[in-house]
Amino acid sequence: MAATTRRIACVEDLRRLAKKRVPRMFYDYVDGGSWTEQTYRENHSDFARIRLRQRVGVDVGHRSTSATMLGQPIRMPVAIAPTGLTGMTHADGEILAARAAEKFGVPFTLSTVSICSLEDVAAHVEKPFWFQLYVMRDRDFVHGLMDRAAAVGCPTLVLTLDLQISGQRNKDIYNGLSSPPRPTLRNLANLATKPRWCLAMLGTRRRTFGNLVGHVKGLDDTTSLAKWTNSQFDPTLDWDAVRRIRDRWPGRMVMKGILDPADAERAVEAGADAIVVSNHGGRQLDGALSSIAALPAVAAAVGSKTEVHLDGGILSGREVFKAVALGARSTYIGRSMLYGLGAMGEAGVAKVLELIRNELDLTMALCGVRNVGEIGRESLVLPR
Ligand code: GLV
Repeated sequence: MAATTRRIACVEDLRRLAKKRVPRMFYDYVDGGSWTEQTYRENHSDFARIRLRQRVGVDVGHRSTSATMLGQPIRMPVAIAPTGLTGMTHADGEILAARAAEKFGVPFTLSTVSICSLEDVAAHVEKPFWFQLYVMRDRDFVHGLMDRAAAVGCPTLVLTLDLQISGQRNKDIYNGLSSPPRPTLRNLANLATKPRWCLAMLGTRRRTFGNLVGHVKGLDDTTSLAKWTNSQFDPTLDWDAVRRIRDRWPGRMVMKGILDPADAERAVEAGADAIVVSNHGGRQLDGALSSIAALPAVAAAVGSKTEVHLDGGILSGREVFKAVALGARSTYIGRSMLYGLGAMGEAGVAKVLELIRNELDLTMALCGVRNVGEIGRESLVLPR
C-alpha cells in the first residue's frame, strides 16, 4: 500500500488504479455519461479552456483553503456528491467515504440509491452527513425516507431535480448493469480478475440498495437500476410539488441539477437554501451545457439570494478554484471520490481530498490569493 501511495500524484492516477480493481460494469457506471458523452467530456474540456492568471510579488506566506457551506465550516470548498451504488465501487463504500469526509472536514452526501442505508452510515460516523432525495411516485415512501434522514440527524436534504426520468447511459446497457451483478459468464470472467474487490465484497452483507430493499416493492436484487428508476421516479414532479417537499423538510434544502437561470429563480422561490449547478455528471441530457459554462449566468441571477454550488468536472484543486472564481461558493466531487474509493477504499478517498486541497492551496498561492474569499473573476483569463 505504501509503495502504491507514493506513486499517486493526482486523481488520474487513482482513476487508473480503480479501473484495474473495480469490476467493469461498476467502473463503467462511474466513468460514463449519457448517449455520446458530449456533456460529460465538456464538463472537463470547458474547465480546461479557462486559464489562471499568475500573479507575483504578493505575500502568500499564510494561506487558508477553509470555507463554509450553508453555514457549516469546511476545510475546503468541496463536498462529497451523492453517487449511486457507491458500495459497489468498493465494499461498504458509503461508510468508508463518509468516514474519510468526516476525518478530513467536508460534508458527505448519501444517495437515495446507495448500497449502505441511512441508518447504517449513521452508525459508523460521528458527525451529521447530508442526504440526497429522489422523488418517487409513492409519496408515502418519500416521506418515510425524509423522516428516516431526519431521525438519523441529517441537517441538509439535497433534492435532485434533474432525474425525474433516467438518461440513457449506453455503457450500462452494454454491461447489463445490476446490483449485485448477474452470474453470467462474462461477469464471472471479469470478476475473476478483481480478487481484491471480490474478497472485500464477500466480507460484507451490504450488496444491494440499502435504503430501498425491504421498503419498496418491485426492487429485487438483480433489477436494472435504470428500469426500476423509470418505473418508480415521479415524472410529474413540478415546482408546486417541490415546494410541498421543501415545506415538509425541517432542515436546510439544497436543490440540485439546475443549469438554467430561470430554473434557479424558481428554486429560490420554492425555498432552496442552496442550488447545485449540475448536469448530473453528464449522465442525463447529453448536449446540455457543461456545469462550468452554465455557472456564470446562474450565479448572476441568484447568487445574491442563495448559495450557488457546482458539480461536474472537478478532478483537481484548479477546477475548484475556477468554479469559486466564477461564482460558486463550493463544489462537489462524485467521480473523483469514487476513483479514490475504487482504488484504495477509505485511504483512497482521503488521498483524493488531500490531493485536491494541496492543488487548491498551490493554485491560490501562485495566483497571489491567500484565502477562498479572495478568489475572484480577476484571477482568471476567460476564453473569448
Ligand atoms: C444516479 O444518480 C446516477 O446518476 O446513476
